[in-house]
Amino acid sequence: MIRRNRILRNSPAIRAMVAETILTPADFIAPLFVTEGKGVKEEIGSMPGYFRHSLDLTVKEAQDLWAMGIKSVLVFIKCPDELKDNKGTEALNPDGLMQRAVKAIKDAIPDMVVMTDVALDPYSSYGHDGIVEGQEIVNDATVNVLAEMSVSHARAGADLVAPSDMMDGRILAIREALEYNGFSKTGIMAYSAKYASCFYGPFRDALDSAPGFGDKKTYQMDFANAREALKETLMDVEEGADIVMVKPAMAYLDIIRLIKDSVTVPVSAYHVSGEYAMIKAAAKMGWLNEEKAVIESLTSIKRAGADLIATYFAKDAVQLLNK
Ligand code: PBG
Repeated sequence: MIRRNRILRNSPAIRAMVAETILTPADFIAPLFVTEGKGVKEEIGSMPGYFRHSLDLTVKEAQDLWAMGIKSVLVFIKCPDELKDNKGTEALNPDGLMQRAVKAIKDAIPDMVVMTDVALDPYSSYGHDGIVEGQEIVNDATVNVLAEMSVSHARAGADLVAPSDMMDGRILAIREALEYNGFSKTGIMAYSAKYASCFYGPFRDALDSAPGFGDKKTYQMDFANAREALKETLMDVEEGADIVMVKPAMAYLDIIRLIKDSVTVPVSAYHVSGEYAMIKAAAKMGWLNEEKAVIESLTSIKRAGADLIATYFAKDAVQLLNK
């Protein structure tokens, strides 16, 4: 034998020297769930250890994240039932919870990169990402609302809007609306390859946004397909996406790699609520070591090609990396 591969695995020091993939706090985007009220901190049933916070506590949470070196948050809001309708009217309210949340976070931590979810589902009486007519989720009317919503988020101070709806043509419409309204510095992180996935279940509990009828398969992608992810992503880049996203992450590492090798914009991956819940549940049963599962999962997502990872483990991961 003239090649002994185990030489480079011999000790923690040598393994650290040759490690190809290193996680850092700046890799992470921390999702935040905001709810109305004051001093409210509600644990999400299917996401143990993760919370909905009222605005005051959201700002505190964002300050903690910033102090740990996490540079970005992705804001979601829980819309009160009485404000939901088919057109997502509340999404455009300049004084809505999302708009107030963005302002409050940017006021407290001006350098934090604030991203906002753009889709109708939290505001929709049907729990769908777009406007419903009959049984259909209509594309073009939805895109108009998404563009207006993006401008409203930009006006509140968002650094990037993050359309998660999977309507056709929304990136171009959003870019044009931002330009037309003078928000040339506001970027777009496009959920480009977003699959119709069962792994979003716990998130829909968090925001009470489960679809009231049917499923999301006429707009989110079929998990049987890879080339379609490339088609979607290349189009989003052409339409003006600054960052593209693959979602979920762990069952889609092949897609992350495919996209990484095919575009020159940064690629993000969303390690989604169901992926969080699986690790939490197995750890609770004593079947998995949570800390090791978290670092291995996030490292594998980065190794697959993700430049950024949206994850509910952002804070835990930074604590583990600092150990
Ligand atoms: C809604 C949206 C969803 C997620 C992010 N934005 C759910 C869905 O599409 O039904 C999922 C995030 C997660 O599961 O962590 N447009």
